[in-house]
Amino acid sequence: MEAGLHGRPSSLKMISSFVKRPSGKEKGVFLALDLGGTNFRVMSVELFGDRTFKVGSTSRYTIPKDLTVGDGKELFNFIAASVDDFLTNNKLPLDKKYGLGFTFSFPVKQTAVASGELIVWTKGFAATGVEGRDVVKLLNEALSKRGISCILVSALANDTVGTLMAKSYQMPHCASGVILGTGTNACYPEEKELGGIIINTEWGNFDKFKQNRFDIELDEMSNNAGRQLFEKAVSGMYIGEIFRLVVLHEFGLILGAELQKPYSLTSADLYELETGALDLKKFGFDKLSPEKIEELKNISRLIARRSARMAVTAIVALLKKEDASISGEHVVAIDGTIYEKFPDYQKHMREFLRELLGDKAEKISFELAKDGSGVGAAIIAAVAALDR
Ligand code: GLC
Repeated sequence: MEAGLHGRPSSLKMISSFVKRPSGKEKGVFLALDLGGTNFRVMSVELFGDRTFKVGSTSRYTIPKDLTVGDGKELFNFIAASVDDFLTNNKLPLDKKYGLGFTFSFPVKQTAVASGELIVWTKGFAATGVEGRDVVKLLNEALSKRGISCILVSALANDTVGTLMAKSYQMPHCASGVILGTGTNACYPEEKELGGIIINTEWGNFDKFKQNRFDIELDEMSNNAGRQLFEKAVSGMYIGEIFRLVVLHEFGLILGAELQKPYSLTSADLYELETGALDLKKFGFDKLSPEKIEELKNISRLIARRSARMAVTAIVALLKKEDASISGEHVVAIDGTIYEKFPDYQKHMREFLRELLGDKAEKISFELAKDGSGVGAAIIAAVAALDR
């Protein structure tokens, strides 16, 4: 983290977000556009200026897979078309101006609150013509091509920063925003060196840990080999694939054709396997004895448990950067489907926190910040509006 902050070679990019935590007094109605994976949302958020907010209309859109790896212009045109759809469906008067916060959950080198260049795609995206470009500019171009002139993109944010902003709007002393979903990442306010400016660590790219042979195989077959190694061991996009590789190689099971396809088994399938809701036929597991099914469940639990323990290790390291002996209380805002939905994930995290810190573990609380990334972008748009 220190190397990244000071511009020395590091697997952690430590990117400035150009914002500090909000005061809780920010007020007004803002739009938020939340692009983090194949789903994205457009929503309106009303901030009341007293640490409370209300999420208004929300529309969800699924980005067709070919657009995530096709021409970047088409991707942004699709986003603009969805914004158009949102404005029409919600009958928003088009003669007004709306401040919009854009959550773009990829590594972006920010140059100001509302501009920044995509450094490199993650999470399987590979659309051309976007890396190295200012994503706010690309969004503005697509909006104006579509004739949308009522939107002013006034903030650009990573989802971790949005999550931290959203929780901090409600409670002042939030120490970090963490995502444990399709990808994983965290941000924190750098008090000592930058007076509280929030830093996006991009910890998904951390690479100083020992990979096992499944991690290595997964990485070598991915479209970004050598990158996002921590993310590939921890996050939702990859844990189903680790499971698939373990089952295929370790057990030599002759299973259905479906299981031969990379990424055919998702983290959602793993939750269903554990809770007994999975359609076992889909992957050929129906041919297995009850004992073998128990073994499969155990593999899934081990992969999730390792993910939870790695996530906690990273969280504690981050907190220790600002408070070396964990003498104060710390609230960590967390969002993401793995954290929220994976059976026992939160229990594994608490257990490991205790193993690492003993009684001091009680000083750390994990708070779910559901959909914080979109709300947080609206808050940053409000902060930016106040600054003008
Ligand atoms: C990936 C992205 C990062 C994002 C995280 C969680 O790691 O690079 O920017 O915060 O996924 O969505």
